Amino acid sequence: MRIDILSAVPRLLDSWFKESILQRAQQKGLAEVVVHDLRDWSTDKHRRLDDYPFGGGAGMVMTIEPIHRAIAELRSQRDYAEVIYLSPDGVQLDQGLANQLSTIGNMILLCGHYKGVDERVREHLITREVSIGDYVLSGGELPAAVLSDAVIRLLPGVLGDETSALSDSFQDGLVAPPDYTRPADYQGWPVPEILLSGHQARIDEWRHQQAVERTRQRRPDLLKRTDRDGDVQDR
Ligand code: ADE
Repeated sequence: MRIDILSAVPRLLDSWFKESILQRAQQKGLAEVVVHDLRDWSTDKHRRLDDYPFGGGAGMVMTIEPIHRAIAELRSQRDYAEVIYLSPDGVQLDQGLANQLSTIGNMILLCGHYKGVDERVREHLITREVSIGDYVLSGGELPAAVLSDAVIRLLPGVLGDETSALSDSFQDGLVAPPDYTRPADYQGWPVPEILLSGHQARIDEWRHQQAVERTRQRRPDLLKRTDRDGDVQDR
């Protein structure tokens, strides 16, 4: 999978993709993330990307031309399944959407800035809008990094242990159960005995119960969502 990120401030993303799992995914050839400076497609002599809004009002609007030229050039080089605009108005990113995006192939991610983009970008150039939550950030770079991270870690072979992405919180509609490691007793705080018992089936059952109980306490909305799908028998 190749992810091309179009940004007015590409430096913001420099270090993000050069570390840890994301870097390993790229070294293994499983994912490629290319961050582009949108100004490279600006025809303005000052490489500007924004202009005053028609009709007046506060704030600047990103112009369509550099964005159109960037997307057209990338599209002429390879196929892209989606061109995603990161925007607080978009569909909210969740594990289900991350799963879906991890299977589709190449993506272009467009980061907004200032007041946002000329509406014609949204009408004609992008295929969907994604938000990372109901709050407004100063640009789409952090959301693009969040989306890329959530998607890339799901690609087969990216995580050392193939099962670990499947045991992430939310994959089964539940938050994750607690984990413990050595020492078995830290200053009088013991780990639950069941985990030391060696009975894998009972441990799995305990973990499931813990996940259900935690979800009930912390994220009852997730259980309700699952209830609506009719899958309540084993909760
Ligand atoms: N751009 C600014 N705020 C955002 C958000 N919450 N999600 C996605 N893109 C954004």
